[in-house]
Amino acid sequence: MKKVLITGGAGYIGSHIALALLDRDREVVVVDNLVNGSLQALARVETITGKKLFFYHGDIRSAADLDNIFRRHHIGEVIHMAGLKSVSESISRPDDYYQNNVVGTLNLLDSMRRARVRRLIFSSSATVYGPQPCCPVDESCPTGATTNPYGTTKLIAEHYLRELAAAEPQLAITALRYFNPIGAHESGLIGEDPCGIPTNLLPYIFQVAIGKLEHLCVYGTDYPTPDGTGVRDYIHIMDLAAGHLKALDNLQPGFRVYNLGTGKGYSVMEIINAVEKISGRQIKWQPRKRRKGDAAECYADPSLAQRELSWQAERCLEKMIADAWRWHSAYPQGYVKE
Ligand SMILES: NC(=O)c1ccc[n+]([C@@H]2O[C@H](COP(=O)([O-])OP(=O)(O)OC[C@H]3O[C@@H](n4cnc5c(N)ncnc54)[C@H](O)[C@@H]3O)[C@@H](O)[C@H]2O)c1
Repeated sequence: MKKVLITGGAGYIGSHIALALLDRDREVVVVDNLVNGSLQALARVETITGKKLFFYHGDIRSAADLDNIFRRHHIGEVIHMAGLKSVSESISRPDDYYQNNVVGTLNLLDSMRRARVRRLIFSSSATVYGPQPCCPVDESCPTGATTNPYGTTKLIAEHYLRELAAAEPQLAITALRYFNPIGAHESGLIGEDPCGIPTNLLPYIFQVAIGKLEHLCVYGTDYPTPDGTGVRDYIHIMDLAAGHLKALDNLQPGFRVYNLGTGKGYSVMEIINAVEKISGRQIKWQPRKRRKGDAAECYADPSLAQRELSWQAERCLEKMIADAWRWHSAYPQGYVKE
């Protein structure tokens, strides 16, 4: 059977997908420039699964790096996860985001064309729906009102892939719009390890729980939600990984897009309470004004993936937090920095 190439496979989501693929007896090749990924994550994936993967320290902006991999391995499918993902950083460094997320994607598709690889899964994001989506958000909800370069680069990449698939009918491309991936593999050996101060809610809360950060700032406590704080759809990382396997199984010529979410929203206060209960630690927090562009609530309608991919998220919030806590409490410093 042909191998699966994961770009960005040493990162948070990619390493969990690599694990799920190896568990399924697929051969996996990872390319990552390690700007935000870790070789430790991949070593632990090999330990957990008892299987080896192929790793290339390379960059998706380099045609030579990618062509070399396609020459050496018989790749059947690509899961394209490599990219930069911080909303705030994208506002101060838009060039880097366009280069990595847009130019990198064009470059990857060029290399795939030369290697005659025609099957691709693309990591997109619920941010493409823009700041005030109507919930539950289904795939037909309007896109295009992105408020930051990160979201715009994801949307541009989606448009490009859609138009490419229309022009080249042999291409089979699926874009998966993730809601909020959290949690860790249940071994607690791999998990999310953000560089510097985390920008996502859960890693931030866990850093407060382990005493690395003093308190959490809660932006907006007067939203029209049951407790006034923002509501989001959190999905367990292993459910997200399972969604990728189903998407691979169901890849068909053309361009498709699916939400990967649970369909249920939790407020910031509910998350804080759940982390306190599971970790036994107090989470100090302070109220702050709403941030411009933040929605009161955003949760998915995941029924299209359920119908067409036979996939649905199975793990509850307690499981997401318990698995994440196992990782963060065992490895408070994250991976050893290479
Ligand atoms: N984590 C989320 O909340 C979330 C939500 C929606 C979408 N996504 C998307 O999913 C993908 C993976 O996200 P993640 O959370 O695992 O992030 P991550 O930063 O942990 O993983 C991305 C990986 O890509 C690598 N990388 C970045 N630029 C590269 C380049 N030019 N060449 C090669 N490798 C490169 C990084 O080193 C990192 O290992 C990203 O495309 C992200 O935009 C993430």
